[in-house]
Amino acid sequence: MSTAPGPVPGPAPLPGPGAAPDAGPEAELREMRWWDLGPVLELEHALFPEDAWSPGMFWSELAHARGPRATRRYVVAESGGRIVGYAGLAAAGDLGDVQTIAVAREQWGTGLGSRLLSDLLRHATAFECDEVFLEVRVDNTRAQKLYERFGFAPVGFRRGYYQPGGVDALVMRLHLHGNTEGTL
Ligand SMILES: CC(C)(COP(=O)(O)OP(=O)(O)OC[C@H]1O[C@@H](n2cnc3c(N)ncnc32)[C@H](O)[C@@H]1OP(=O)(O)O)[C@@H](O)C(=O)NCCC(=O)NCCS
Repeated sequence: MSTAPGPVPGPAPLPGPGAAPDAGPEAELREMRWWDLGPVLELEHALFPEDAWSPGMFWSELAHARGPRATRRYVVAESGGRIVGYAGLAAAGDLGDVQTIAVAREQWGTGLGSRLLSDLLRHATAFECDEVFLEVRVDNTRAQKLYERFGFAPVGFRRGYYQPGGVDALVMRLHLHGNTEGTL
């Protein structure tokens, strides 16, 4: 894997004001390490109360995130010594998959979700992915809008994907080399 990620699709320009007033200092992004898992799991349970990942799921992802054969990128956002967001990408051949992305509620709307997604897409390029896929709950319009701004387009559904609730997932795809057209 190359360590110098090239240009990747970015979000459409934003109208509107700056960061939310109570968001605090701008968060710094860095690689997620195992010692981050305590606060990451706390956020995970707060933001995904019905289908939170287990510690084992994070551990097994991080096991593939280092070294010359790494296939994962996991990143955290830290602000004032606190983890306020995280995201992860898995690469398999020329396909990337956004595994997770989450931002602490008080930071929503500050652009942190966009920064985390940009980080994942830069690493997808470094992993030499041609396309990046993701699943998102059909009722999660906020996240869908974020992905659309980056050029992700809907390509299908996975019925009952989110358990135990049985909520459907919308599958979205981004072509990393310019063509962002999708089919439903
Ligand atoms: C989805 C999620 C990651 C988005 O994070 P976020 O930090 O709010 O994302 P951004 O701030 O980059 O963008 C979100 C909104 O803020 C707006 N925004 C971003 N930066 C802005 C800025 N500087 N000024 C004004 N508005 C801004 C964007 O326009 C966007 O609004 P829109 O959705 O109405 O277009 C976050 O809401 C979250 O963690 N949700 C719970 C977990 C989840 O659902 N994860 C996705 C699973 S598939």
